[in-house]
Amino acid sequence: MASSLQYFLFSSLLLFFISPISFAQQSFRPQALVLPVAKDASTLQYLTTINQRTPLVPVSLVVDLGGQFLWVDCEQNYVSSTYRPARCNSAVCSLARANGCGDCFSGPRPGCNNNTCGVSPDNSVTRSATGGEVAQDVVSVQSTNGFNPGRNVTVSNFIFSCAPTSLLKGLASGAKGMAGLGRTRIAFPSQFASAFSFNRKFAICLASSPTSKGVIFFGNSPYVFLPGIDVSQSLAFTPLFINPVSTASAFTQGEPSAEYFIGVRSIKVVEQVVPLNTTLLSIDSQGVGGTKISTVNPYTVLENSIFKAVTEAFVNESASRNITRVAGVAPFDVCFDSANILSTRLGPSVPTIHLIMQNGNVQWSIFGANSMVSVSNDVWCLGFVNGGSNPRTSIVIGGHQLENNLLQFDLATSRLGFTSTLLGRQTTCANFNFTSSP
Ligand SMILES: *[C@@H]1O[C@H](CO)[C@@H](O)[C@H](O)[C@H]1NC(C)=O
Ligand SMILES: *[C@@H]1O[C@H](CO)[C@@H](O)[C@H](O)[C@H]1NC(C)=O
Ligand SMILES: *[C@@H]1O[C@H](CO)[C@@H](O)[C@H](O)[C@H]1NC(C)=O
Ligand SMILES: *[C@@H]1O[C@H](CO)[C@@H](O)[C@H](O)[C@H]1NC(C)=O
Ligand SMILES: *[C@@H]1O[C@H](CO)[C@@H](O)[C@H](O)[C@H]1NC(C)=O
Ligand SMILES: *[C@@H]1O[C@H](CO)[C@@H](O)[C@H](O)[C@H]1NC(C)=O
Repeated sequence: MASSLQYFLFSSLLLFFISPISFAQQSFRPQALVLPVAKDASTLQYLTTINQRTPLVPVSLVVDLGGQFLWVDCEQNYVSSTYRPARCNSAVCSLARANGCGDCFSGPRPGCNNNTCGVSPDNSVTRSATGGEVAQDVVSVQSTNGFNPGRNVTVSNFIFSCAPTSLLKGLASGAKGMAGLGRTRIAFPSQFASAFSFNRKFAICLASSPTSKGVIFFGNSPYVFLPGIDVSQSLAFTPLFINPVSTASAFTQGEPSAEYFIGVRSIKVVEQVVPLNTTLLSIDSQGVGGTKISTVNPYTVLENSIFKAVTEAFVNESASRNITRVAGVAPFDVCFDSANILSTRLGPSVPTIHLIMQNGNVQWSIFGANSMVSVSNDVWCLGFVNGGSNPRTSIVIGGHQLENNLLQFDLATSRLGFTSTLLGRQTTCANFNFTSSP
């Protein structure tokens, strides 16, 4: 009773909250949505595909976990009968926190209309931003019961930003923009939650091979991977933090970061606590320091002193196991001869790195499959890179370290749920059954 009452209140609040925008009325209400994610072999970016516009076309997008919103190239091949630019001072402009309003003289066309508001679409790979018209159009994605994809569902007024073709530079071949999953009100998690009245919750599970498909879920669990393992049952939790200063390439003063920060309190190599300058582990009033999670960094990046300390402990521990260090192979400094490295279910057998979280009892353990990168038949490298002396963020947990781990971001409770590696649980992120149920 209590929970259904809460649910009722929550959905009425949501309806009230989104009333300025009319989302598609659906007779079918999905419990969750699912998107496939594939790794691009040459850029190591993670790509997803949504269907957008009228008629619907598949649009390939680089997944940007901390991205502010969806942006797509509207300059080339954007054809849609349902494209609607956001008029100045409209509710959509304020939801998008638009930073300007104006005219465009080379239109009208998608991305160039008079009396529209704009935001700053951000290519977080190259760290460049431009101006872009705020707009709405149809977006269609597959629903799921957590086991298989179900019928496609549509949001008729999905808010996004147009960008010029030039902003695609640096993205994987075929990508037409970026899918922002960050903590703003117009990023994917919040728009889907509003449209379908589910919790502001999503989960990512990246596959390690470019030939297999990982998955992003929006909404509630279960998250079931073959052979029938619901990994939402085995999450450890740690608080998510808001960085008060935007980390985007362009932003207005006072805007918080849309990225997901967590509290790493210390790092262990096997049982040894690595001595670190703990000041670097928290976010200061300038928004500097701390730990974030990123899908646009292929490997974890550590501030110079943290990098030195962690790699020293790792090299020392490896030496005691007769693992021989060899010359670095860019971008990695720390590499080993594979001769004395055994293979295990959790990847090459090397010292385990543990990230000890805010609550000292919770740890994220990084085994060989997530710590090591094979650069040749004879050489394994530690897949961490040196971020130099004064990086904006001290620890950026990158894609390689996220693969085959499921991470659930709960925006309502500001909490990250994570599994550590699924490889010890007899499944992988590539094991979602993408065959539609009949
Ligand atoms: C915007 O309005 C100006 C006149 O104020 C007009 O010259 C221009 O063609 C219009 N542009 C669009 C995209 O409608
Ligand atoms: C539903 O979406 C999937 C994945 O985007 C697509 O392959 C399929 O054609 C869509 N089905 C319909 C009936 O539109
Ligand atoms: C620790 O890091 C902070 C922030 O970069 C710096 O100001 C301080 O000098 C460092 N302390 C030591 C002992 O290196
Ligand atoms: C190196 O390893 C040995 C034993 O494995 C340990 O006693 C020592 O403290 C380590 N030193 C560093 C700097 O990690
Ligand atoms: C490492 O190698 C030395 C000499 O080859 C050997 O005596 C020792 O047992 C080896 N240690 C391990 C942990 O394999
Ligand atoms: C995947 O799902 C389909 C549709 O429900 C089902 O027929 C099939 O048996 C499943 N595959 C496996 C390997 O379980």
